[in-house]
Amino acid sequence: MLIFGGVNSWKDSNILQREEHCQQRERTNKKLNLKKMLELVFATNNAHKLEEVQAIVGSAFIIKSLNDIDCSDDIPETGETFEENAKQKTDYLVNKYGLYCFGDDSGLEIDALNGEPGVYSARYSGSRDMEKNIDLVLQKLGDNTNRTARFKTVISLYLNEQQHFFEGSIEGKIIEERRGIDGFGYDPIFIPNGYDRTFAEMTAAEKNSISHRAIAVGKLATYLKTK
Ligand code: IMP
Repeated sequence: MLIFGGVNSWKDSNILQREEHCQQRERTNKKLNLKKMLELVFATNNAHKLEEVQAIVGSAFIIKSLNDIDCSDDIPETGETFEENAKQKTDYLVNKYGLYCFGDDSGLEIDALNGEPGVYSARYSGSRDMEKNIDLVLQKLGDNTNRTARFKTVISLYLNEQQHFFEGSIEGKIIEERRGIDGFGYDPIFIPNGYDRTFAEMTAAEKNSISHRAIAVGKLATYLKTK
């Protein structure tokens, strides 16, 4: 049963809407005798990421979530690089379901901290509490004048029995105090090069037009459009 009004209901209604579109497309394809659309599973249940990717990839591919394929497994993320973690996700889905799929991994690399927090970005302080994670970064950096850093995303794609990687990154610097209330994660302490505002001081549209994730997804979409 769906209860309308909460985050889950929004997610559920999105999933229902996508399923409806999918069924509708299949009916139309059948009627018009068109080639079946290619389906790809995105190893995530983050509705926002799914929508963003579907919008960039366009209608040539139907992007499904883990929920859509009834996968509630905690997919391991034990790699030492973004590539390894992203590939772990697609390997898992390929081995378990034999599906064409893609998965991503992102994080923040700070030069003065030898690339930390890197693959540990989500749990740098040992917990998922981003206030603590940001505090730890600022504490470790102290008054170090080398503040250069970058956000990075790597996408692993498994399609037509081939493995591909797509990478996006955005260079910038870590400021000394939080600024801005939008976004998530380390956004309040990261200013991309060429700007004087943090990611958390930008609108979602502005951030999404330059972000590491948008760059990687753009490369994925460009590749998929050739298929
Ligand atoms: P994920 O692989 O996209 O889930 O990202 C892992 C972690 O990296 C997140 O939990 C955040 O802490 C950090 N991160 C990734 N992308 C961003 C971003 O765009 N802004 C701020 N933090 C990010």
